[in-house]
Amino acid sequence: MPAIVVLGAQWGDEGKGKATDLLATSQPIDFVVRTSGGHNAGHTIVVNGEKYATHLLPSGILTPGATSVIANGVVVSPEALFRELDGLIERGVEIGPDQLVVSANAHVIASYHVAVDKVSERFLGKNQIGTTGRGIGPAYGDKVNRVGVRVADLFDEGILRQKVEAALDVRNQVLAKVYNRRAIAVDAVVEELLSYADRLRPMVADTSLLLNNALDDGRTVLFEGAQATMLDVDHGTYPFVTSSNPVAGGVCVGAGIGPTRIDRVIGVIKAYTTRVGSGPFPTELFDDDGDKLQRIGGEIGVSTGRTRRCGWYDAVVARYASRVNGLTEFFLTKLDVLDSWERIPVCVAYEVDGVRHDEMPMTQTEFHHATPIYEFLDGWGEDISKCRSFEELPKNAQVYVQALEEMSGAPFWAVGVGPGREQTVIVHDR
Ligand code: GDP
Ligand code: IMO
Ligand code: MG
Repeated sequence: MPAIVVLGAQWGDEGKGKATDLLATSQPIDFVVRTSGGHNAGHTIVVNGEKYATHLLPSGILTPGATSVIANGVVVSPEALFRELDGLIERGVEIGPDQLVVSANAHVIASYHVAVDKVSERFLGKNQIGTTGRGIGPAYGDKVNRVGVRVADLFDEGILRQKVEAALDVRNQVLAKVYNRRAIAVDAVVEELLSYADRLRPMVADTSLLLNNALDDGRTVLFEGAQATMLDVDHGTYPFVTSSNPVAGGVCVGAGIGPTRIDRVIGVIKAYTTRVGSGPFPTELFDDDGDKLQRIGGEIGVSTGRTRRCGWYDAVVARYASRVNGLTEFFLTKLDVLDSWERIPVCVAYEVDGVRHDEMPMTQTEFHHATPIYEFLDGWGEDISKCRSFEELPKNAQVYVQALEEMSGAPFWAVGVGPGREQTVIVHDR
């Protein structure tokens, strides 16, 4: 039975939550797993017209019968975790005691990570990355610097204190001497983290063992990506990226499973492109079309409420995502947002300093200089939100989907025609 990966193929907010929810409700799914990032993610799921947003929790928390797993590659803010859980419980979502499992090896986001994230962004001035301010970068930085605190450390006060001391040793000097901020007290951090220990303890397990055993037993495991390929710290538009590896390879590291386990890798991609925060974006629009995409697409961040930058579909990005993730298929979302355009530009290649590039340019400087080469496809000029099969789509919408599929490097499994779970058209059944 399969291990299925769902990941973002652009700069995030492609509709991974919807794709995960759709997969989890259209077939029996035993586990839904987050393997990277933290509560910087914002995934929207619309069930029977009710809208839910998940951040740190896998979307599977809304799927009856599925166990949600926060694996070792995730950075966990216990405060955010419990705030999110309580928010769902208050809305009447039933979450059983065994329905959420957290890796003992996941790293913890503490208040000092948030403080450093915010202050270092301010310090960057016009070069700032536009992070979500959730402490993600500093927490991953501590992990790589080997001064991180892991979930299991919360259950041993002596060890926790030692680790927090080690983390704050240099950090406090930097806060005071570089950023002119007050030092953070070890006692306060230890006390705060210990306050979560009792509630967290029953949820904690060896999630690598759990997931490998599940796959051995033929159970179905869905890995729900967060962030996206172009935000990957290795393969994205560095330095305007997040601090983790949201690409398919990151799933293996972040979950403790081998690459041979994975059966399907689904890249979620919008029928146009959006980006939140700073960084290059070749097809970005600064005109009425950009405003219209933003308005019709409701392009406002789920986590930070920031307006998303909008632009046309970029097939170079799609091919790149297909390559670095080894995509078996795409899920094309938000096709309905394009209903009212007469002519739809699609970026098929870039021009960089007078040279045509069909593939992603090698260097960051070239990518910054890339201007899109467009092909123009005819629009369909009608509401497609009620279409439920590929054949029901207007002819021009079918042609648009087929043209994108041909230039994107992997088959299109399905197309989204609205935010609802049922607003989906299957192109190639699996
Ligand atoms: P994620 O971070 O990748 O899960 O995506 P977000 O939830 O941040 O943003 C995607 C937005 O698009 C959400 O508001 C979804 O409800 C919405 N959405 C997803 N698929 C479709 C679709 O096919 N059509 C429309 N109109 N909205 C969609
Ligand atoms: P989902 O899972 C869109 C962006 C931030 C910023 C950069 C670094 O909903 O697709 P960070 O706080 O991670 O250090 O910020 O990454 N970013 C996202 N953009 N969707 C997301 O998640 C994002 N998570 C981080 O805006 O540019
Ligand atoms: Mg999002």
